[in-house]
Amino acid sequence: ELKEPGPSDNQLIDYKKSNKTEQLTTGYGRPIGERSTVITVGPRGPLLLSDFPYIEDTQRFDRERIPERVVHAKGGGAFGVFEATDDISDICKAKVLKKGTKTRVLARFSTVAGESGSADTVRDPRGFAIKMYTEEGIWDLVANNTPIFFVRDPFLFQMFIHSQKRNPQTHLKDPNMVWDFFASNPQATHQFLFLYSDRGVPDGFRHMHGYGSHTFKMVNDKDEFVWVKFHFRTDQGIKNVEPKRAKILAGEQPDYALADLYNAIAKKDYPSWTLYVQVATHEQVQKFSFNPFDLTKVFSQKEFPLRRVGKMTLNENPENYFTQIEQAAFSPAHMPPGIEASPDKMLQGRLFSYADTHLHRLGTNYLLIPVNNPETNKNVKVCTYQRDGAMQVGHNQNGCPNYYRNTFHGPEVTKPEKHLEHATFESGMAARHEANDDDNFSQPRVFYQKVLDDRGRAHLIQNIVEHLQQCTDKDIISRAVAVLANVDDDFGRQLATRLNVNLPKKH
Ligand code: HEM
Repeated sequence: ELKEPGPSDNQLIDYKKSNKTEQLTTGYGRPIGERSTVITVGPRGPLLLSDFPYIEDTQRFDRERIPERVVHAKGGGAFGVFEATDDISDICKAKVLKKGTKTRVLARFSTVAGESGSADTVRDPRGFAIKMYTEEGIWDLVANNTPIFFVRDPFLFQMFIHSQKRNPQTHLKDPNMVWDFFASNPQATHQFLFLYSDRGVPDGFRHMHGYGSHTFKMVNDKDEFVWVKFHFRTDQGIKNVEPKRAKILAGEQPDYALADLYNAIAKKDYPSWTLYVQVATHEQVQKFSFNPFDLTKVFSQKEFPLRRVGKMTLNENPENYFTQIEQAAFSPAHMPPGIEASPDKMLQGRLFSYADTHLHRLGTNYLLIPVNNPETNKNVKVCTYQRDGAMQVGHNQNGCPNYYRNTFHGPEVTKPEKHLEHATFESGMAARHEANDDDNFSQPRVFYQKVLDDRGRAHLIQNIVEHLQQCTDKDIISRAVAVLANVDDDFGRQLATRLNVNLPKKH
């Protein structure tokens, strides 16, 4: 399929129209007289160490790469605005959600398993990370396009990711690893069904929903709390890529989703999403038949209907990919007063992992990079007792006292009642509580039997068969089908027939 040229293809032509040629300089600003030849002793002689413009450029080039994200390495993003359109002050005191408030946002969308240069139209969840520059600090809602996840214990996260990445010897993607992990971890069933359904390959980033996935806590100004799930629903409508086309696009237009987002915004066809919450009281979740903080489960939309909160519109492409998108650091731990974590083990694990990887990927002062800096939009003043560190290029709190408590007007807690976290009562045996067999099939059964229609079920089976038959260890195929057969008898039978394996006898 031939690609129509879009604004992204003309970026340089547009640059030329609005910029004049400047004098070339070194990094330290000295004008340069020549940029095509090195200094040599005679026309055929060796180089001189005194050719500093050459040495400086070489050294900078040698250091251009920073570590790519360990997951979600391939992605694209844009800026925009979030507007709180509805009054939810009865459940949440966060100023960003006060009706009428408009907040600048950054969104970054991504695939999960592939490297930074990998193709966009692969079967993989999509990251849906939103950064809101609120007047109470950064709020990062680091979401996916799926409402659930593969595992419910963060100790399994690295293991799951390893199984999706490359084989350590061959450096190839390895279906034996993917399906061995699945067959050994039935808790992944719900997410695998979602992934192998039509929604597993969304058409670009504009035609998919985003889900906070975890249960979060919202607190109002009376210090009362509820549990919520966040849903960003696409205003463009859901659209997926059919598997054959996805494979062709992966070869011919590997950056399909990045180009689609960039060009839509450049043409002022601004994509938007409406934010909703599902709200449940503590009394309600205690009556659930399942753990309300289990990331492999959804809340029923019949029982807990979507309540509208606001709308996000993306209307500004980045000016520079590396500084604004590659260096963007999203962390689920960044939440304003009024929005808090739940005891979901996965969320708790994530609260630590993101800032930790940012310290490694971007450095100690990653929060000073303008795209991450809460002060960039001039609506927040950061006042801390943190100091110095590599690449400290901010005000570093100037002459402000660097110890607490002090009597010299250093930063103080002025309104503890407004900003204290909601107090919780926790008790229980500190132990490694096994949860692998925590009802892995009831919700996948609803997904298979009620959410999908006949066509959706046929596609799901076809997509699973195509991938599962690539396993060269036949035992893995039998084990995976045996797990999937727990979802629905007919589903199990169809998979077993197509893949030529025997189902285990039912007792
Ligand atoms: C990226 C860890 C589960 C969504 C990342 C990164 C790490 C990580 C280390 C790289 C961050 C960076 O380099 O900036 C984990 C751990 C998890 C987990 C330890 C579970 C225990 C999830 C879940 C979701 C999610 C459940 C969605 C609901 C994302 C997104 C990104 C990301 C969207 C990319 C952010 C960006 O665009 O920069 N994750 N993750 N992750 N994760 Fe997770």
